[in-house]
Amino acid sequence: MNQVELHPYYQHKDLRDYHAKHGIVTQAWSPLGAVDVYGNRSTGRNIFDNDVVKEIAIAHNKTVAQVILRWHVQHNIAIIPKSVHESRIIENSQITDFFLTHTEMYAIDKLNMGLLGGQIPYENQNGYGVQISKP
Ligand SMILES: NC(=O)c1ccc[n+]([C@@H]2O[C@H](COP(=O)([O-])OP(=O)(O)OC[C@H]3O[C@@H](n4cnc5c(N)ncnc54)[C@H](OP(=O)(O)O)[C@@H]3O)[C@@H](O)[C@H]2O)c1
Repeated sequence: MNQVELHPYYQHKDLRDYHAKHGIVTQAWSPLGAVDVYGNRSTGRNIFDNDVVKEIAIAHNKTVAQVILRWHVQHNIAIIPKSVHESRIIENSQITDFFLTHTEMYAIDKLNMGLLGGQIPYENQNGYGVQISKP
């Protein structure tokens, strides 16, 4: 399994394809895109404000969070959404009773901006590369 930043604004399609080819599970951290708000590369963008996702949520009588998490699941991405609210934890688990259409999946696929909200994994806090010693 490989856990990486992954949400509709940073979709890692090439990496997901590599994982699929080599039997590696893709796991998304920040699946709801919160890193775009708090991350060190934050642009302040917030997927919860996105009209495309909002419209899909209304069409299914679901919340934006549920649509985003469902999008991950239909792409076979393992998700670890975080919430300190019990009601949201329950809400985030209720995503197995609806399906996004191909058109809806594609509409969210098209939201990818290819911009990380968090750190590049091989950089430290100051943006310098971390030396990884060989075993
Ligand atoms: N491997 C790594 O480098 C790495 C880095 C970052 C995070 N992670 C892991 O990934 C997990 C999730 O990442 P994350 O916390 O950055 O982002 P996230 O799960 O994408 O989003 C969490 C944010 O969304 C809010 N939220 C959750 N459910 C919601 C809902 N149904 N409606 C509206 N808002 C909702 C939460 O607020 P409330 O809590 O107020 O509900 C919180 O502000 C973390 O717990 C951590 O274990 C791993």
